[in-house]
Amino acid sequence: MISDLDKYRTEVSSFKETSSDKIESFRIKYLGKKGILNDLFTKFKSVPDKEKREFGRSLNVLKDMVLKKVELLKSQNFQVEKIKISEDLSRTAYPIHSGSRHPISIVTAKIIDIFSQIGFNISEGPEIEDDWHNFTALNLEENHPARDMQDTFFIQSSPDILLRTHTSSVQVRYMEKNIPPIRTISPGRVYRNEAISSRSHCIFHQVEGLYIDDQVSFSSLKQIILYFTKALFGKSKIRFRPSYFPFTEPSAEVDIFWGLESETDYRITKGTGWLEIMGCGMVDPNVLSNCNIDPEKFSGYAFGIGIERIAMLKYGITDIRSFYESDFRWIQHYGFNPLDLNSTSGL
Ligand code: PHE
Repeated sequence: MISDLDKYRTEVSSFKETSSDKIESFRIKYLGKKGILNDLFTKFKSVPDKEKREFGRSLNVLKDMVLKKVELLKSQNFQVEKIKISEDLSRTAYPIHSGSRHPISIVTAKIIDIFSQIGFNISEGPEIEDDWHNFTALNLEENHPARDMQDTFFIQSSPDILLRTHTSSVQVRYMEKNIPPIRTISPGRVYRNEAISSRSHCIFHQVEGLYIDDQVSFSSLKQIILYFTKALFGKSKIRFRPSYFPFTEPSAEVDIFWGLESETDYRITKGTGWLEIMGCGMVDPNVLSNCNIDPEKFSGYAFGIGIERIAMLKYGITDIRSFYESDFRWIQHYGFNPLDLNSTSGL
């Protein structure tokens, strides 16, 4: 019987097949229920006592050899299969999930496009601002009640440093560094300490516009906004409602006539047909002097647009929170695939 064990040991160590079928039959032959090892273990009972010790030891060595061999051959087989797969050029490719542009980026790009066609450039500034650029220079003195219009996140260690509440701060920076004529739009992220709901969020995006020259009038402002609403929404019925902003005088809010054709139109316009889309006005002379521009020589207008609001209208999105959830399926649905070069904006 010992000589049988020697025979099996030689067979096991010389076994070299790499195909999974052959490895499996080898495994069954030795380790299966009716396999060689089980058979030998049964025979072990009838081995004479004095030989038991040696026989048992050899049996365990054989079992160990088989287990190791199977493991080794399987791992070699795995490598071989892997190489075969990567060499098979006709194999179907794995799907590539390309990203999509976010609706906020799409709408921002569209607005930038509309204004750059009529000579506006783009200006950017810091999201962490100081009091001067976010408030004081914009005609909001330290105790001005209108500071409460925009609930602000202050940086705790310094009451002078805050997260900008609007991109009007960028306009201040731009006016400080440039001389008129100034024609610039400032897109960017802004922060307000507001309760999060389906209609408001503490982070959102704006594009603000500024035009300063020697003969800018309110009618220039009306024209530019008409041009903008036509280009973005294809709608030209707009109205100006008197409003208040500390940095503009006079100030207005702009509504577009959205229509009352569907149930959604009724819902989003609260049955009036009109929708508010932006704030605007003539730059207050105090703001111009704060930025070293002579208000006797120059005048200008400014406007501010909330991007989320525009995107919600364009796409029929009802909950502002969905913009920030980073749900891949949502972005795939509303976004525009940047690899699709034929589509320019997704709008
Ligand atoms: N800065 C204002 C806001 O964030 C918008 C605005 C800009 C209004 C320019 C008038 C002129 O609400």
